[in-house]
Parts: sequence; C-alpha cells; structure tokens
Amino acid sequence: MLFDILTPERILFGPGTSFRIPAELERLGKRVLLVSGQNTLQLPENLDRVINPLKSSNLAIHYHRIDPEPSAGTVDRGRELARSNNVDLVVGIGGGSALDTAKAVAGLFHSEEPTSAYLRGREVDVTPIPWVAVPTTAGSGSEVTRNAVLIDQENGKKSSLRHESWMARVVVVDPILTMSMPRQLTAWTGLDALTHAIEAYTSRWVVAPSAALAAEAVRLIVQNFFSAYTTGRKEPREKMALGSLMAGMALNTAGAGLVHALAHPVGSRYNLPHGLVCGVLLPYALEFNMAISVDHYAELGYRSGIARRNASVEEAAEKFVLYVRKLVEKLGVPATLGEQGLRREDIQGFVEASKGGSSLSANVRKATLDDLTSILERAL
Ligand SMILES: [Fe+2]
Repeated sequence: MLFDILTPERILFGPGTSFRIPAELERLGKRVLLVSGQNTLQLPENLDRVINPLKSSNLAIHYHRIDPEPSAGTVDRGRELARSNNVDLVVGIGGGSALDTAKAVAGLFHSEEPTSAYLRGREVDVTPIPWVAVPTTAGSGSEVTRNAVLIDQENGKKSSLRHESWMARVVVVDPILTMSMPRQLTAWTGLDALTHAIEAYTSRWVVAPSAALAAEAVRLIVQNFFSAYTTGRKEPREKMALGSLMAGMALNTAGAGLVHALAHPVGSRYNLPHGLVCGVLLPYALEFNMAISVDHYAELGYRSGIARRNASVEEAAEKFVLYVRKLVEKLGVPATLGEQGLRREDIQGFVEASKGGSSLSANVRKATLDDLTSILERAL
C-alpha cells in the first residue's frame, strides 16, 4: 500500500474549544483577516464564543463578509483587504463558502495575478500565509481539505482550486457553533458530509486510513442525522460535526465520486446549494455504482446498524441504499432536479463539464458520458 496524506497541523474538537481560538491565533499572527458569511457573526453563540473573546485579545481584526457561493472576485476583494491591512493570518468562520474563501485568500496572498487566472489553469506558484478554520456547519469538510471551490464569474463555471500548501494550520471544531443551524441548512450540509463519506469510502483511491475515517463518518452521520435535523439536542450535533470532519479528512485523501462530478456544474448553473444537489443525486449514484460496490455498501449497512450482521451481503447493500433514499426523502429533499430547474437541454453541457475532473476519475465504477447523461435524465 502506498499513500500520501495531508492533514492540518492541529485539530481541536469538542464543545468549548472555540474559547481557545484567541490563543491559537496569537501564536500564528498579529493582524487577522476574518472571513465570514453576512450574518454568521451576529449569531449569539458566535458572538459569545468567538467574536467577543477576539475583541478583547491583542489581535487587530479586519472583516471580510461574503455572500454564499464565492467567486474569484470574492477572493480578490479579500486579498485586497488582507494586503492593504498587512495581515499575517486569515481566519475563516462559517460554512464551506467562508472557509474556501479564507483558504484561497491566504493561499494567493502573495500573488499579483487575479484569482481567475488560477481558476483557468495557472499553477499555484506562491507561498501562502497561515489560515485557521472554524466551521459553523457540519458538512463541507473544507476545514480539512486543500481545495477551494470558486465560481469564475466571467463564464459562470465552478472549479476547484487546490494546492497541498493550502491546509489549515489550525482547525477548531466546536459543535456548539453548529447548534443554531436551521433545519434546511442542517439537511443540506449533512447530505454533503454523507456524500463525502460514502464517495470517499468507495473511491478508487481509497487507502486504509481514509477507509477507516470514511466508514466511521458514515456510521456517525447515519445514526445522528435525523435527530440533529429534528431536535435541538447537543449530542447529535456533536456527532454530526465529528462525522463531517472525518468525512472531510477521508475526502482529502481518497477524492469524491460521481455525485461531486455532476453537482458542481449543476449547482453553479442554477445557483443551487451544493448539499441540496448532492442529496438529490446521491441515491442515483448509489444505484449506478451498486453493481460493483455491493461489498462496500453492505459493510456500511452492517456498521451503521441498518442491516443485521446475519443479513446477506446483497440484502445489507440493498438496505443501505434504500436507507439513504428514504433519509433524503425524510429530510425534505426533492427526489428529482427537475423541481429545482434542471432542463433536458442543459444535460449535455453538464456531462461535458464533468469530463476529466478528479471526482469522476475517483468514482468506483467507470462512468461513460452516456452513463452520466442517463443518470441526469433519470434525475430530471
Ligand atoms: Fe461536497
């Protein structure tokens, strides 16, 4: 076995860990650019646990508030702010959009080129400044990956920019910060995490450490998703945050699969939340991959308690796939993308756009362009 695993330098996990943020930041810099969503910082738990402690620290804080689904321009504005204030550290607090933006701002801080040049193929050729990730959703896994998904606003294409030097220096996962997520966001972000875990577990590039992380992530998410969605209890939120973190770590090593290959072009074309598109497409991808993933899905079924240990492999695999389909339904996610605006005439473009991407190469079953077309037609 051969592998090359990138991890952040330090991961702090657990309720209350956000109180350690000021000390961690003071260790890494003096002038901070804090990247967040428009309303993230107003939420009481973020104010009490992150912002107010930072205000009473010795750090100079500059703010970059972003809209959902960041573009190259979002990153460029952050880079300008960072440079004009001579910051030496970037912090992302929020969901995947804030973390991806923070990562790219830190990664391209020393570059003179616009972010769009990198989205169109320029190699990352500069040394980053450090960045710290504080996720407030349980889904994107961006806190432990080396890539940032950004929209090139000139052609509307969503691409993944990445470099191995872009790992966060410190990751602080305080599950309390995820408590105020509304139901719908809990569903969409959790489905993103579940998709990462399943796709990483079945990926062609899976290795023993990523398989262990992914399998445990599936178990944690399957057993806690619905109660995190329906109740305000801490325990399921904590388990979801852990599942999302572990799924992200597995994803960073093993890559994703079919769902992610299609979710990026579809999501950016119709401006749909990433987790929602993943949730709709996941059951179709599981069905397509079933032919050669029976053992994998059965194992996930046994481990998650969906199938009894004495069930046959085929039965356990079927139960697992059925469970995911029903879960998606119970979370209020539509069964098709037609309801979200997908048009038949756009399908060929999405199939073309997914060609050559790393997610498609990682998918366990080779998917031809005809296969992708028929998956999207079924999801219409
Ligand atoms: Fe994702």
